[in-house]
Amino acid sequence: MAIRFEDIKEHIGSRVVWDDRADIFTPEAARAIRAKVEERTVVVFPELDLTDAEQLAITGAMGEKVRLTARNNVQSNDEDVYQVTLDEKINPQPEYVLGTFFWHMDGITVDMPPPFATLLSCRIAPAVGGETEFASTYAAYEGLPAEEKQALEGLKAVHSVRASLSPIADAIPEKHRERVLGIGLVKEHPLVWTHESGRKSLVIGTTADHIVGMEVPAGRAMLIRLQEWAAQPAFSLRHKWTKGDFVIWDNTGAMHRAIPYDKSTGRMMHRTSIAGTEAVAA
Ligand code: OGA
Ligand code: MN
Repeated sequence: MAIRFEDIKEHIGSRVVWDDRADIFTPEAARAIRAKVEERTVVVFPELDLTDAEQLAITGAMGEKVRLTARNNVQSNDEDVYQVTLDEKINPQPEYVLGTFFWHMDGITVDMPPPFATLLSCRIAPAVGGETEFASTYAAYEGLPAEEKQALEGLKAVHSVRASLSPIADAIPEKHRERVLGIGLVKEHPLVWTHESGRKSLVIGTTADHIVGMEVPAGRAMLIRLQEWAAQPAFSLRHKWTKGDFVIWDNTGAMHRAIPYDKSTGRMMHRTSIAGTEAVAA
């Protein structure tokens, strides 16, 4: 039997239903899942309990694997699998993970097309906190009033790692602060992304520092209003993790963030990424 999908909310999210676990690992399933990720932004596989090898197989079957931040991990497993954890024995630089508490898109400051999708499987679910939220930047753009869409045409935002770290800068130990904040990745992107499909989405999140050609306070206020707009309940989804859950989302059409959690919860997620095929275009 083929796998089936059920909608979670009107504008975002599908849940996968299967009879035989093996049905998830076929080439047809990989194509159907990729299409569903593009259509519904977030696809949830409840309690699938993937091994790393299985997660890498699905990742590779859906596209080209890409490694985002593996060098920050003291790896005890495959180097294409990033362990999202606040445990300093595995992740000696927790800043990157603390930065996930703020709405963002992955890989947006790196000099390559933004990754198409991020895949997370839950190894240790926290008892308190640590849900992941997703906000569809396609639905957010589509839902804007016509005159606001018009006002965003042609605007560009400057994205930087430094901007994304500003909410946690004073929590970085002083001896590391300048080195961490000095990660000099800066990239300009159109605020409205017209994808090759013709659909449009917003390119926003905590990496967006200011709008080119606008006074900084006014541009920042606009970026924050757009984040708030995209995060409204109609366009967003909160996933509460159960051990073994596996979630894939369209990183080119969504922002995401983790609800804060404490290191003592032991929360552990295994992450892989699929390369993007399109640069952000106006
Ligand atoms: C990430 C990320 C969210 C989470 O690893 O890029 O944003 O809930 N993770 O752990
Ligand atoms: Mn992320």
